[in-house]
Amino acid sequence: MNWKELYKQKLVTAEEAISHINDGDKVVTSFGCGEPYGIERIMYENYKKFRNVQINNMVTIGDSYWIDEKLKGHFSLNSFFATSVNRRAISGGAADFTTCHFYEQPMVIREIVKPRVSIVSVCPPDENGYVSLGTNVDYIESTLDYCEVKIAQVNKYVPRTYGKAIKHISDFDYLVEMNEPLPEVPTLPLSDVEKTIGKYCASLINDGDCIQLGIGGIPNAICKELENKKNLGLHSEMVGDGVVDLIKSGVINNSMKTIDKNKTVLGFAYGTKKLFDFINDNPDIEMHPIDYVNHPMNIAKIDNMVSVNSCIQVDLLGQVVSDMIGSRQISGVGGQVDFVRGATMSKGGRSIIAMPSTAKNNTVSKIVPTITDNSAITTPRNDVHYIVTEYGIANLKGQTVKNRARALINIAHPDFRNELKAEFKKRFNEDF
Ligand code: COA
Repeated sequence: MNWKELYKQKLVTAEEAISHINDGDKVVTSFGCGEPYGIERIMYENYKKFRNVQINNMVTIGDSYWIDEKLKGHFSLNSFFATSVNRRAISGGAADFTTCHFYEQPMVIREIVKPRVSIVSVCPPDENGYVSLGTNVDYIESTLDYCEVKIAQVNKYVPRTYGKAIKHISDFDYLVEMNEPLPEVPTLPLSDVEKTIGKYCASLINDGDCIQLGIGGIPNAICKELENKKNLGLHSEMVGDGVVDLIKSGVINNSMKTIDKNKTVLGFAYGTKKLFDFINDNPDIEMHPIDYVNHPMNIAKIDNMVSVNSCIQVDLLGQVVSDMIGSRQISGVGGQVDFVRGATMSKGGRSIIAMPSTAKNNTVSKIVPTITDNSAITTPRNDVHYIVTEYGIANLKGQTVKNRARALINIAHPDFRNELKAEFKKRFNEDF
């Protein structure tokens, strides 16, 4: 049968596609800019037809249907990353949360969650019947190998990306045509603090290095400060709009990469139409599964790999908390530890954790004597290399506990240094 006939055969309404979800099923969906919202909306509107269906996904940008209390007994959410949308539901127990290193997530979903149904977003087929997973390959691509029911929302707004994003319509059981703009992550104006942090981070990045940029406000600030670098590489679980101009201007050209030479390698794209348009039909950008992109052993193969991530608390031991404040789940570990470890193992590599020195309108120091009770450590102190704030750079690698504490106090906000110095004296029985 030619692919056009196959396409017609598989083309159904969203109502028909979701009728193949059984009570008690586990469903995995794509996330972020690739979340198949059109199909999810029809599931939400028909929630009374479903019982005990668990939705598994990651970062939600727009509304999350799955935390609506009226869905209790019909749909529940198991999230792999908290955001402002679902934090309250996770902390209050209305939604569940799974934590694992991002590179392990495809395995965790396949072998532990074991979803029966996968729902993804794809662009319309080309002349040979090939579609693309667009902004998201990460954990979702491999679910098409083993889920019993594979549903795609065919959406003309999804960019056609390459690497492992290309699928054939024969890879799906049901196709639902629903065109709607993708959810976007807006680029916010940079604060002076972010600009200064960007400058410090850029001072640790050399011509020819390969970079990874994490999630949050800092990465775009760093991109602005990289405009005069040369021959950078990009191998990152995700990127936002900030990298587009750097690639267009040739600052990022991937020419020095020791694997995937001349290619930008990504797990998912997380930005606005500017980014979607740039990655659309762009063979220099390769989307790959996250157990490839984030595997520390693969990252380690890239010489001069520099990872840049952010956090919310660092104690005087240099332990990094990035995803919890006390028992409140703020975000997730994502690929932070994957990249910190991979960059550490890379020849000439280094890892940077960059953060504003304070939170909550300067009322709270992010550098603290001890981390808030009940928080989990995200990146252990032995993995940490550079910590950056707007007050400078602390190099913790191989330092004594006293030197680590000194370096961190020196980059804390001045309003909180006396308190930290008092802790130093108490701890080490010597003046700062
Ligand atoms: N005490 C109390 N609250 C704090 C805090 C602190 N020390 N630090 C941050 N917060 C709060 C902020 O006020 C904000 O709350 P709000 O959303 O209610 O305003 C929230 O935590 C998030 O902080 P913010 O500074 O806005 O975060 P960000 O968008 O810049 O992202 C991280 C920073 C650390 C949350 C983000 O980088 C992250 O999730 N990192 C872990 C995952 C990771 O690194 N993955 C690797 C690549 S994806």
